Amino acid sequence: MASLTVRKLDDEIKAALKLRAAKSGRSVEDEVRVILREAAETPALAAGARPASPSEMSRPASHHRAPNGRPRVTLIIGGGIAAYKSLDLIRRLKDRGCHVRCVMTRAAQHFVTPLSASALADEHCYTDLFDSRSEFDAGHIRLARDSDLIVIAPATADLMAKMAHGHADDLATAILLATNRPVLLAPAMNPMMWNHAATKRNVAQLARDGIALIGPNAGEMAEAGEAGTGRMAEPLEIATRAATMLRPPRPQILSGTRMLVTAGPTHEPIDPVRYIANRSSGKQGFAIAAAAANAGADVTLISGPVDLDNPINVRTIRVESARDMLNEVQKALPVDVAIFAAAVADWRVANAGAQKIKKTQADMPPLQLVENPDILATISKLPRNRPTLVVGFAAETENLIANARSKLARKGSDWIVANDVSPGSGVMGGDRNTVHLITRDDPPDHAPDVWPVMTKDDVAATLVARIAQAIKKQSASS
Ligand code: C5P
Repeated sequence: MASLTVRKLDDEIKAALKLRAAKSGRSVEDEVRVILREAAETPALAAGARPASPSEMSRPASHHRAPNGRPRVTLIIGGGIAAYKSLDLIRRLKDRGCHVRCVMTRAAQHFVTPLSASALADEHCYTDLFDSRSEFDAGHIRLARDSDLIVIAPATADLMAKMAHGHADDLATAILLATNRPVLLAPAMNPMMWNHAATKRNVAQLARDGIALIGPNAGEMAEAGEAGTGRMAEPLEIATRAATMLRPPRPQILSGTRMLVTAGPTHEPIDPVRYIANRSSGKQGFAIAAAAANAGADVTLISGPVDLDNPINVRTIRVESARDMLNEVQKALPVDVAIFAAAVADWRVANAGAQKIKKTQADMPPLQLVENPDILATISKLPRNRPTLVVGFAAETENLIANARSKLARKGSDWIVANDVSPGSGVMGGDRNTVHLITRDDPPDHAPDVWPVMTKDDVAATLVARIAQAIKKQSASS
């Protein structure tokens, strides 16, 4: 059996060894024995160095849990002033039962040291793609796959640009390109950088690639006198989101259900540069599409012009006018459930000009309005291909219930979600909603089903649960 002289190791390793031994209350020699025993028991070492096989790549994340069953989080620390907060993040993640392993970019090491990260994480901090110690078994592949979640905090503009374009010229970017695990990004940068068109393009690309984002928050920046959006989300917020992402997936209560959702306003052209629109943000429809997809439904979202990213796992089709929306809705049939959350313009300009209308000294241009097709009524009254459940929305500013009931009868939908959008309610464009659910089977004197004030995400989750219940009841009775 070979013997090892600890004195011959280089200084950095000796310092790390001493620290580890002091923390575990062992002598340095005993600590080395423990490390060697652990290494010999590690399957990758026992079996010899080799990259992950395709079957290992596709294993669910839970197979990569740390030996004690704790979820494994790889924390990539980017080079920004917010890197100091990532040290606190290590602790917050550990408080939530995670096993944390850190990777630092070269720039990050100007702000915090690998030694601090290793000491807090209780594991070696990886820094170099060409480090023989971390590459002994294709380390970047192992770090990329042998995790339940990868968190990048702070994610700098440069790191995000590299990710969006698939660069892999250092350990952090190589891990991010090689991973098939969920990734959570906590951007932090100067507000000018965050608002730059290039960063916006990269953020949109990363969202399309399925990367989750938290922050950045608004507030004061490290640069004196500067404020705006660009501060990294707080460690507590990031750790809470990470814990949510690590939870087992929700039951797929809508699996096998085809669902169609409309959202947002429509734009009705007056001429090539002007249009009639309304204040709908599309947030409620997008939240419903996301919640349905999360519950396993096969979702098509048809949206008017809104400033929202496509929800993950949702086929999203963008349109402008009511007539385009109807056209796409018809193409998306047949579906099992259709939810019409769009604020479709009731009228369009009959004589929309092909050229920009000129301002003259004479009278105002006459705008003649004609009625748009009613998409909800058209689909509710289809003789063939009618979805089994058709849900409309009624945004009202007065007589909420009475107006919603007559809308349900007039349009022929099965359910109406009535919401109060009177000026003081803050619903239009806001994040919260107060809704009442009215169904066709309610007797006339039935008290409306009033939901408490909720976020639009919670309204979406509640609606999806109600739909799943209705489908289950229907299939049990048929
Ligand atoms: O605008 P109104 O209150 O009539 O909208 C009620 C419901 O009808 C909503 O679900 C909306 O999406 C739908 N609607 C539609 N096509 C229209 C107008 C409204 O699908 N042209």
